[in-house]
Amino acid sequence: MSKPRLLDLFCCQGGASVGYREAGFDVTGVDIDPQPRYPFVFHQADALKFTLEHHREFDAFHASPPCQAHTNAQRIQGNDHPDFIPATRALFELIGKPWVIENVPGAPLTNPVMLCGPMFELETYRHRLFESNIPLSASTHQAHSVPTTKMGRPVKDGEFMHVVGNFTGVDKAREVMQMPWASRDGLREAIPPAYALHIGRQLLAHINQEAAA
Ligand SMILES: C[S@@+](CC[C@H](N)C(=O)[O-])C[C@H]1O[C@@H](n2cnc3c(N)ncnc32)[C@H](O)[C@@H]1O
Repeated sequence: MSKPRLLDLFCCQGGASVGYREAGFDVTGVDIDPQPRYPFVFHQADALKFTLEHHREFDAFHASPPCQAHTNAQRIQGNDHPDFIPATRALFELIGKPWVIENVPGAPLTNPVMLCGPMFELETYRHRLFESNIPLSASTHQAHSVPTTKMGRPVKDGEFMHVVGNFTGVDKAREVMQMPWASRDGLREAIPPAYALHIGRQLLAHINQEAAA
């Protein structure tokens, strides 16, 4: 039986894509920039335009629109970045197939579930929100109890890593995020594949359930 096909919009180097692939999807990525490290079929294009033209070729959609519009640092600096979330949601609703939009806390997502590293035994507190048109679940968030390495310092034993901005330790970040193929830029932008595996399993179960109904 062929695998359901998932389009990963704003795919970057493929943190999310690898998790969806592990869940059982045949994954294709689209990003506006060239992504030579992206591990699957890749199209360089505007994500929304590409989806509008090609959505019939896919069974499900994931989008991680750039989150600069919603990060605290950008808000404080008053920088103006486009917010792709409303247009992405509107397009997905029009298409009517199962979809997921992922973003950072503070982004305008509706009834999202939040994932955090220790839910998957990852040594990073990396909160990410997931909104979908299918029901999603996540385990209860536990209070943070491990110190996180201060910016610019190498990670010491017993510390968690914060993979943001100009972090120190690309090799350590590859290990922590479980993304051995990624560069510094890809790591700081990514969701760990473990998050997308968790979401992808639920998406696949939903698709299989609908097909059997
Ligand atoms: C937050 S990153 C996605 C990270 C990815 N989900 C992962 O887990 O590795 C956002 C990406 O959106 C891309 N991007 C920005 N504007 C775009 C557009 N109009 N169309 C497609 N991609 C775009 C950026 O090049 C960047 O790679």
